[in-house]
Amino acid sequence: MIENRTAGIAIRRAGTEALAEALAASRRDTLAAFESFERNLESLVVPRCVELNPPLWELGHIGWFQEWWIARNPQRALGARADPEAPRTAGIRRDADRLYDSAKVAHETRWNLPLPDADEIRADLHAQLEGTLALLQRADETDAGLYFFRLALFHEDMHHEAASYMAHALGFEIDESTHPAPLAEGCREIGFGTGRWRLGFEGPGFAFDNECRSHEIRLPEYCIDDRVVRWAEYLPFAEDGGYEHEHWWSGSGRAWLRAQGRCAPRYLERTSRGWRRWSNGRWSELDPALPACHLTLHEALAWCNWAGRRLPSEAEWERAAIEAGDAFRWADVWEWTSSAFAPYPGFTAHPYRAYSSPWFDGRPVLRGASFATSPRMRNPRYRNFFDAGRDDIYAGFRSCSLAPTHRATHRRAESLVDTFSIGDHVSWNSEAGRVSGRIIRVHHADFDYKGHRRRASKDDPQYEIKSDKTDHVAAHKEGALTKIGR
Ligand SMILES: [Fe+2]
Repeated sequence: MIENRTAGIAIRRAGTEALAEALAASRRDTLAAFESFERNLESLVVPRCVELNPPLWELGHIGWFQEWWIARNPQRALGARADPEAPRTAGIRRDADRLYDSAKVAHETRWNLPLPDADEIRADLHAQLEGTLALLQRADETDAGLYFFRLALFHEDMHHEAASYMAHALGFEIDESTHPAPLAEGCREIGFGTGRWRLGFEGPGFAFDNECRSHEIRLPEYCIDDRVVRWAEYLPFAEDGGYEHEHWWSGSGRAWLRAQGRCAPRYLERTSRGWRRWSNGRWSELDPALPACHLTLHEALAWCNWAGRRLPSEAEWERAAIEAGDAFRWADVWEWTSSAFAPYPGFTAHPYRAYSSPWFDGRPVLRGASFATSPRMRNPRYRNFFDAGRDDIYAGFRSCSLAPTHRATHRRAESLVDTFSIGDHVSWNSEAGRVSGRIIRVHHADFDYKGHRRRASKDDPQYEIKSDKTDHVAAHKEGALTKIGR
């Protein structure tokens, strides 16, 4: 984690030597990903759908992007102040702009283009990288002088992750060594007092336009989980009828649920022997310690309603990731936040206009990174943004308590720990003897239970537990419960 975090921060300030190495490494990854598509797909054909791109098009587009912004860009030395409309010099392939400009070539038309074959595109990529590296050697070692080299690197790295989740949807893995890691059982809350936070980033080094301008905001007191939700915490919601009971879902969530007809998360299936996960083209037993993944924002919000939690805002997430250091684990999966993707005050679009501005349309921000994100892209200031209904990407979430009741005397991070968490397997005494079940909710405030008001607070929570043997749901304080393992 520390290494990854450092890589994502250091590369934004990388000089010519480190950038040249990174550009060459990223290109090796691009070619390896493409070879995986060649091995696994007959004639490189993929279904025509919004989640996919033809692999040949992706390959050509990556080389085109680099050449368009570097070798063919007469204003490349101006960095973020360059005029994107400045006429371009000729490229390696004459008709490249009509084939590969993602801002102009509509997604659904990419299946019909007269693309060169794989070997021709590989030759183009080789020549384009040679040209880029030659220009990099002569570039000014300033943030402006290196801006487009860094941008092209990040762009190529982003396409690697897209290749990974496209391959996953198609039933194979590009890199079988890249997997989500199981997470330890205990989940702690990290508390923050009311305070000011400087949101965003504007250098020194590279910054994406949507991270600028950095500006101070005031954050209320809050408590945020130190890691993302695992399947062990998420699936009790599905088992509790979460996908059938519409009252947990937002209006747009209900519309999504009806349109999809879902009764479980994508790539998961419930059988008489438990949950199974579809990965690498086959079904296998699900490890409940894995981070919950391939979830939409709608599912994250519905779970929060059910569990009596909420999503963090992007500012809460950013502050926790930077201030809490290693106590705040991230980069397991992208994390949905409650914030809409919107320009920060003083936003000015950078030359790659199609990157941010077209997407300030109310879609949510995701923060963090996933297990498949290049370490170079893992940065606590980075803002990702996808449609709320996307579940092909490696996205999950973490949650915050609804009303932190701890005293905000601490300016720095501290931990608040519940004895038990959602998903824990516990036993207790009942009239019928010792029974067991799984915790499905934690109450930190008074709540109604079977027609009675039950007392609960942050210091003295109550737990709802679903019996292993019946559909009965019990509510107990921690003194009545004994943990019996997973
Ligand atoms: Fe792209």
